[in-house]
Amino acid sequence: MNSNSLVSISDISKEDILCLLERARYFEEHPDHKILDGRVVATLFFEPSTRTRLSFETAVNRLGGRVIGFSDASTTSSSKGETLKDTIKMVSNYVDLIIMRHYLEGAARYATEVTDVPVINAGDGANQHPSQTMLDLYSIYKTQGTLENLTITMVGDLKYGRTVHSLLMAMRYFNPTFRFVACEELRMPAEYKDFCDKNGIRYSEHTDFSADVINSSDIIYMTRVQRERFTDIMEYEKVKNLYTLHNAMLDGSRDNLRILHPLPRVNEIDYDVDDNPKAYYFQQARNGLYARQAIICKALGIDILKEAQK
Ligand code: CP
Repeated sequence: MNSNSLVSISDISKEDILCLLERARYFEEHPDHKILDGRVVATLFFEPSTRTRLSFETAVNRLGGRVIGFSDASTTSSSKGETLKDTIKMVSNYVDLIIMRHYLEGAARYATEVTDVPVINAGDGANQHPSQTMLDLYSIYKTQGTLENLTITMVGDLKYGRTVHSLLMAMRYFNPTFRFVACEELRMPAEYKDFCDKNGIRYSEHTDFSADVINSSDIIYMTRVQRERFTDIMEYEKVKNLYTLHNAMLDGSRDNLRILHPLPRVNEIDYDVDDNPKAYYFQQARNGLYARQAIICKALGIDILKEAQK
């Protein structure tokens, strides 16, 4: 296993997080720093993606590296029965870094066990999405001026939403208060509430997305109900439209409130919110480019701040 891999946000320290945020800021100011000349990066996407894949690929291009990979596994030899292990070992022959999204929880961890090439987890089932977390943290830091002592309300699919699981774990260093707003079927899983208890993180659970909850939040983190994780489509139909944020619901909210969403959205945020200055989800996705440039450099053992001084 390559120790520069990024599989779970729980593997990285507070110092690592702060270093990555500092380097994301550098890349926001210098997005075209050509530091990856001669390096090849693979993007292996066994599940659909728009932002994660394109922002990782843009990041490599802006850093001067090259990208190979696929966005549709049905065009690869996995459709002939090639195992994930063999696919990873093959791709490792060609590249310096593997970025992988997979529908199975634990797939990224498994990949690290069969290759010496660093692996970045771009999402594994309902488990983790650590690069999304880094861009979420960067977005929170930029909009709030701090990561400390914030009240963060997570809304929607807290059961299957890997982005909320990763963000919750990363915030353990920053004394957050969480509000979990979800229906019974999509509540935050017990393992993450146990994690909060063990780390002294305050949280409360709500089924009502009430004015009280909205008006006492610094961040509202909306999530899509993850249709692809349901085995019974009728269950999905029952819960898919339970929580939608409308502009009028923000009338009494704090000045510093920002609305985040990992995207794609379906019905969770009405289009009338888009022009509200508190809507931050499109800028959040843009921040993904800078955060991912920082993550790629770390995985390849490059300290951009030291390089910039040369
Ligand atoms: N936020 C996110 O992971 O988006 P994509 O599925 O489009 O990559």
